[in-house]
Amino acid sequence: MKVIIADKMDHGAQTVLGYLDIEVDARPALGEIELLDVIEQADALLVRSATTVDATLIQQATKLKVIGRAGIGVDNIDVAAATKAGIIVMNTPLANAVSTAEHAIALIFSIARHIPQANTSTHAGLWEKTRFLGREVSHKNLGIIGCGNIGKIVANRAKGLQMRVLVFDPMLSEDEAEKLGVEKVRFSDLLSRADFITLHTPLTKDTHGIIGEKEIAQMKKTVYLINAARGGLIDEVALQTALEDEKIAGAALDVYSDEPLYQHPLFNHPKVIMTPHIAASTYEAQANVALQIAEQVGKYLKTGEIIHALNRI
Ligand code: MLT
Repeated sequence: MKVIIADKMDHGAQTVLGYLDIEVDARPALGEIELLDVIEQADALLVRSATTVDATLIQQATKLKVIGRAGIGVDNIDVAAATKAGIIVMNTPLANAVSTAEHAIALIFSIARHIPQANTSTHAGLWEKTRFLGREVSHKNLGIIGCGNIGKIVANRAKGLQMRVLVFDPMLSEDEAEKLGVEKVRFSDLLSRADFITLHTPLTKDTHGIIGEKEIAQMKKTVYLINAARGGLIDEVALQTALEDEKIAGAALDVYSDEPLYQHPLFNHPKVIMTPHIAASTYEAQANVALQIAEQVGKYLKTGEIIHALNRI
């Protein structure tokens, strides 16, 4: 059995697979063309988000049985093509959830207290004490769109911060909402009542552009929008217009419609905080995703047991 690791990944993945007596070929710097040349040797392919696993690669992967995504989002994997080829696609939906939730909370504080701007100003020797008047989060309404693994952790942390948590998630039952101590609301109520709105839903055809001009029009003018889930959930043109027209107070973004992002009209916007898709970039999360995906893939190769599959073959 041979596993190719195509992206930079914590060494724990190799240790786990080695322990299971599975050969590992770790090639983090492999380009897409070179990967095409070697993929036919692989029984399994492990990736993070850098490698695109498209139909051409899958077609070439004649021995491939499983693709493991060390992380959650599978935007970089053609799951339909994998299914057609009889290849299981797995991810690690829990392994980086805490880090992602913590980043969303960090973005909430950063935008509410202008921390990145104050940091830049202080480093420049400006001491602009009166410029950075912020807002408390305590007793404010936090609207969470999507209350799965990550949304639930955000809700838990926000409650500890004395925020009132409103949740929109058609999959969340009233009972679960009660147990979580959150208020399950209609989408339009969340939009109109929230002081902070954070997105924690996958990008699908139903959620693409879930926040656009029409939704922004229902929000408070003082609302802050936070997105550490997926680019494409917020219509970036509508967001830019809303910021220019002062329809919302600001936005804190970790994800974008096009990544990596080297140019964007929102660069240097005074009311926008941007980070480069680092919500899951912690030592803990990267160790967790690598270990878990190696364990899952190893188990599948050795025993056929399927854990956290995104398709059925
Ligand atoms: C994920 O989908 O796991 C996170 O967004 C981080 C990543 O893309 O690796």
